[in-house]
Order: sequence, then structure tokens, then C-alpha cells
Amino acid sequence: MNPVDAFRLDGKVALVSGGGGAIGSTIAVGLGGAGARVVVADIDQKLADAAAAKVIQAGAECLALAADITNEAEASRIVAAAVEHFGRIDILVNAVGGGAGKVLFEAQDYPRDAWDWIMELNLRSTLVATQAAVRAMIQAGSGGRVVNISSVRAQLGIDSGYSAYVAAKGAISSLTRQWATEWAKHGITVNAIAPTFVDTPQVATLLGDPAFRAGLVSRVPLGRIGETNDLLGAVLFFASSASSFVTGQILTIDGGLTATQ
Ligand SMILES: NC(=O)c1ccc[n+]([C@@H]2O[C@H](COP(=O)([O-])OP(=O)(O)OC[C@H]3O[C@@H](n4cnc5c(N)ncnc54)[C@H](O)[C@@H]3O)[C@@H](O)[C@H]2O)c1
Repeated sequence: MNPVDAFRLDGKVALVSGGGGAIGSTIAVGLGGAGARVVVADIDQKLADAAAAKVIQAGAECLALAADITNEAEASRIVAAAVEHFGRIDILVNAVGGGAGKVLFEAQDYPRDAWDWIMELNLRSTLVATQAAVRAMIQAGSGGRVVNISSVRAQLGIDSGYSAYVAAKGAISSLTRQWATEWAKHGITVNAIAPTFVDTPQVATLLGDPAFRAGLVSRVPLGRIGETNDLLGAVLFFASSASSFVTGQILTIDGGLTATQ
């Protein structure tokens, strides 16, 4: 077999939770481009529809669904809808999350409501989507792929009020290893990407600050800010048979930033 073919996803069905977002929609288009049929699920129907239109424009089949993926019943509903529509589910990418920049508090005073919101948005969403998708994968008995989105914030502290976010992303990295261990017997691999700042609306205010941007670029060995397309190669690797013997891994995508720490 041509080794490049191992990255193809023809015949596979991929669910992108948070697929209407900046990173999720890029991933949805990328998975579709690699041959997958794609389900885009997002709390915002308009964002889901817009992402699905891009996937379809790129030549793949795509179903757009609206759901609150912090809710177990809603997560189960979208997985059932994906299986009903496409007959199977092979790949889950968890791309709901973020919010850190909206709730910056000193660690000693970090308020419970902000903590709970960040945990729901990042950790609960990943938990319930994964539980629902993996139950369907185990039932089908054909294995599967789960790709989580952690962050360099799971590895590196940052002096700007990120307590809840680092805790959520740290938990996602830990669960990536735990789930990989538990679900290997079902042929399901679980891996994560851990990006640093990616040029998206979530971090537009920070990256719009010329001093912050210049400081970040100066610390990144590859000398630039990451873009959503920079995440695609790693996601495709983890989503495809190219990574058949790889599970429980967290791939940092940061232009070399953490290598310097
Ligand atoms: N942008 C960055 O710099 C960066 C860096 C590292 C990691 N990440 C992570 O990447 C992931 C995606 O980030 P992004 O920048 O694309 O954010 P985004 O806000 O553009 O995308 C998140 C999507 O999730 C959807 N969503 C929110 N709550 C939901 C819910 N309850 N149910 C269903 N959908 C819901 C939103 O509508 C949105 O479309 C997050 O986990 C984030 O923490 C982002």
C-alpha cells in the first residue's frame, strides 16, 4: 500500500463536536477532504450550517446538527443521529472549549461560577461527547478514533488568571491517557493535540495587542503565530490508520515553544 493512503478516511464517518468553531470547522473540512463523511455538531445551528456548507463545498457529505454538548442526552442524540444518517461512527474530534480569556482571575480568588463554566465548556463537553461516541463504537465493534483538544496550558503555567482552563486542559490530557488504556481492548485509540495560541476569534483580543503578539512570536522558535490549518496534519494522523499503533499521546503543536521551556 502507498503509505500516504494510510491517511485517507474513505468510508469513515467523523463527528466533530464544536465543528462550527474556528478550529472545529477547519478540522471538519480537513477530514472531509481526506474522504470522511462528516457530522458537524455545535450549539449554534448557524455556525454548524456554515461549517457544513464548507465541508460540502470541499466535496464531502456533511450533516449539520445543533446540540448542547455539555448535556449527556444531547450528546447521545447527536451520536444516534450520526449513526442513523451515515450508518456508523468511526472518529470523534472534541473541539468544544475555550473561554479562558473571558474569565481571568487571580488564582487565590478564582470564583466558583467561572470555574464551573470553564469546566463545563471544556471538560464536561469532552467527557459526554466521548462517552456517547465510544458507547456506539464499542457496540459496533469496529474500533474507532477519539481526538481531543488539550492545550500547552496543560503543561505550562501562565501568569494571567488561567486557573480553571489549565485544570480543564490538564484533565483532558490525563483522560486521553486513561481512555487510551481502557479502550485499547476495543480497538479504539485516544490521542490529543495541544496547541499554543492559534489565530482565532477566541484569542483575537490578546493577539491584537501588538506587545503580546511580538512577545509570543519572539518566544516561538518557528517565529510565527499558529493557524488553524497547522493542526490538520496531526488530527488527520490521529484520525486515520496511519496512527494504528499510537494511543494515549498528546502532540504539542506550538512552533517549538515548549521545547524552549
Ligand atoms: N484558539 C486557540 O488559540 C486555542 C489554543 C489551544 C487550544 N484551543 C482549544 O481548541 C478548541 C476549539 O477552540 P476554538 O478557538 O475553535 O473556539 P471556538 O469558540 O471558535 O469554537 C468552539 C465551538 O464550540 C461551540 N460550543 C460552545 N459551547 C458548546 C456546547 N455546549 N455544545 C456544543 N457546542 C458548543 C461554539 O459555538 C463554537 O462553535 C477549544 O477546546 C480550545 O480550548 C484553542
